[in-house]
Amino acid sequence: MDRNCKSKNAIVFGATGQDGSYLIDLLLAKNYKVVGVVRRSSTDNRQRLSHINNLSFKIVEGDITDYSSIISILSAHAQDDTEIYNLAAQSHVAVSFKQPGLTWDVTAKGCLNLLQAIIDLGLHKKNVRFYQASSSEMFGKNYDTINGEKVQNENTKFMPQSPYAIAKCAAHEAVRLYREAYGVHASAGILFNHESERRGENFVTRKITKWIGEFTTWLYERNLDPKHISNSCKNSDLIYVSGSQYSFPKLRLGNLEAFRDWGCSGDYVEAMWLMLQQESPDDYVICTGKTHTIRQFLDAAFKLVGIKEWDHLVVIDPEFYRPAEVEYLRGDYSKAKEKLGWSPKTSFEELVNFMISHDVKHFPDNVNRYE
Ligand code: NAP
Ligand code: GDD
Repeated sequence: MDRNCKSKNAIVFGATGQDGSYLIDLLLAKNYKVVGVVRRSSTDNRQRLSHINNLSFKIVEGDITDYSSIISILSAHAQDDTEIYNLAAQSHVAVSFKQPGLTWDVTAKGCLNLLQAIIDLGLHKKNVRFYQASSSEMFGKNYDTINGEKVQNENTKFMPQSPYAIAKCAAHEAVRLYREAYGVHASAGILFNHESERRGENFVTRKITKWIGEFTTWLYERNLDPKHISNSCKNSDLIYVSGSQYSFPKLRLGNLEAFRDWGCSGDYVEAMWLMLQQESPDDYVICTGKTHTIRQFLDAAFKLVGIKEWDHLVVIDPEFYRPAEVEYLRGDYSKAKEKLGWSPKTSFEELVNFMISHDVKHFPDNVNRYE
């Protein structure tokens, strides 16, 4: 029977994350039956799934560092043609310098556990397909110069700059090996940074938009305008309001000069799905082809709430610098465009607008958000 005519099944590891929740929304809209794997937590880690009310969606508990839990889940839920998406990771680069062992166990070994479980259960002979969430962090310090432009694509060599990136490189190589050695239909998406209103609050874009949301609410509740902010607060950790006792903690950030190729999570989960619909497995760079610094993100975000100068609202804090940095990321998605028919839909400006619109509840009166 044609693969497209069968009812489809998917198992998503990392279901509670930003991408997991968007991917599950997409798969349910395509009438898949979806199993989301959620790790046990003493607090609620299912908020990004709370909007889903669909009998085709089932949550099961499991942890990718525990091979036996993977075997139980795949034995119970993987059928012929099931699509398995591995989005589970310790995904924060700065955290990986502080917890390298945990990052290795989850981000590298977790992927290997999944691939080995596919072999041990013989699922590769049942046309089960596997997606691995690889990362542009794997390029680290490296880029190629093509037609005078600095970019990274599928041929660019990896030069990882963090324990996280090293773990992602190991997982990426495992995908290639299991594809070549055992014939697993395993594909890796080398995704550049992608964001949304569901982005974790300690990644830089969301940290900025959340802070702006809280700051504008604070101003609104006191009937203040950004122009009331005192210039005398330049050397302080707090923002003061002229002629009043009010103060608000500044936004604390690290390196503002790094370049990132920022896209939108909703666009990128579509590319993951497209990879698993291909006859042959392969690896693809997914990105926008545009790059901006964190400083430019700040400019765009503050402008949307009518603040043109923001230097006095931000503290550069060494705590948020990393022992090694990835200074420049800008992808080239030509292969995904040609083979998958995929292109990004959301521009940088639309992404910032979309995140600010979500996080800011009270726009200053004089701001025209759409100008
Ligand atoms: P995320 O929000 O941090 O989500 C990570 C997911 O992994 C969460 O559901 C988390 O569960 C789960 N997880 C962590 N440890 C686990 C374990 N031991 N067993 C099972 N699940 C575990 O990340 P994301 O932004 O959605 O990214 C999805 C994937 O793409 C990750 O692998 C990330 O490294 C990769 N990636 C992301 C980007 C990006 O810009 N977003 C770019 C390239 C690659 P909890 O909710 O319980 O913590
Ligand atoms: N998180 C964070 N917090 N980053 C900051 C801060 C801060 O306060 N200040 C400056 N930055 C800089 C970082 O040094 C980095 O250069 C840039 O902002 C982006 O940091 P993150 O948003 O944490 O993302 P990332 O690029 O390190 O990693 C993300 O993208 C990767 C793909 O390139 C994560 O989603 C990874 O999981 C993903 O693989």
